Amino acid sequence: MLDSRETFPTQAFVAGYPIGHSRSPIIHRHWLKSCGIEGQYSAVEVEPSAFAEFIEKLKSQTSFYVGGNVTIPHKETALKMADRPDETAQEIGAANTLWREEGRLYATNTDAYGFLANLDERRPDWDKVDRAVVLGAGGAARAVIQALRERGIGEIHVVNRTVERAQELADRFGMNVHAHRSGALVEIMKGAGLFINTTSLGMDDSEAPVIDFSPLLSKAVVTDIVYVPLMTPILRQAKEQGFETVDGLGMLLHQAVPGFEKWFGRRPVVDEVLRSLVLKDMDRH
Ligand code: ATR
Repeated sequence: MLDSRETFPTQAFVAGYPIGHSRSPIIHRHWLKSCGIEGQYSAVEVEPSAFAEFIEKLKSQTSFYVGGNVTIPHKETALKMADRPDETAQEIGAANTLWREEGRLYATNTDAYGFLANLDERRPDWDKVDRAVVLGAGGAARAVIQALRERGIGEIHVVNRTVERAQELADRFGMNVHAHRSGALVEIMKGAGLFINTTSLGMDDSEAPVIDFSPLLSKAVVTDIVYVPLMTPILRQAKEQGFETVDGLGMLLHQAVPGFEKWFGRRPVVDEVLRSLVLKDMDRH
């Protein structure tokens, strides 16, 4: 059989279901072009029932791809099926980046990296705080908590509508992580220097609760992992109340960096050109 990699340019994918709204192709194709690399990056719609076969094909090297991204709803299965999931992916409980190396399928999760890199770029001193509040306890919250713990934030307080899910995360991530029900929000915001929304509240202009951010430290940063709309209702309220805000678009852009480097061999740059390309696409849809 022909070795596809000798015949075709290097190819990577993003697999999800549905996949139509993924911005990953815009990001990676921009980098391929700006780095002058003759590679390809494609969006592939893979139904949940077909995902195991897709991964088996990738593992058996009968696929054209050297690796790729996986997104909703495949991140947990990708972790389970990888031969070599790294520690970060295991801690988060989901993988979003896969690559083949020496006949094995490796997996990592770059969401925590993207979250940290975005804040580092936008508010370099953001991590000089002792207390952070995380709103939400879903998959996205796991990556955020992992990132905050890695950065050594002293106390991480998770608030969730379903307090049992927050408690699961506190049990999973250990001592510095505390679970609270939604009613405790005002109390636990006192003295916090960082507030992160990881829920879908306000996404696509849906309703979001009114939040009084005044218990936070006056220099606190409020950030949202949702980036559609860019200025989410939570960010808008925080800004109107005089707080520094960081939108979630940078997390999306930065989380793509390690994958591109693995597949195509160059570390790409997140800059304003890329940001405006993605923003333009968001305006169109
Ligand atoms: P993701 O993987 O994107 O984080 P998820 O696992 O479905 O998605 O989690 C969504 C988060 O948003 C959860 O914390 C969810 O709260 P519950 O655990 O109580 O479901 C939160 N969320 C979604 N809609 C919400 C709403 N209307 N009010 C409060 N929290 C909401």
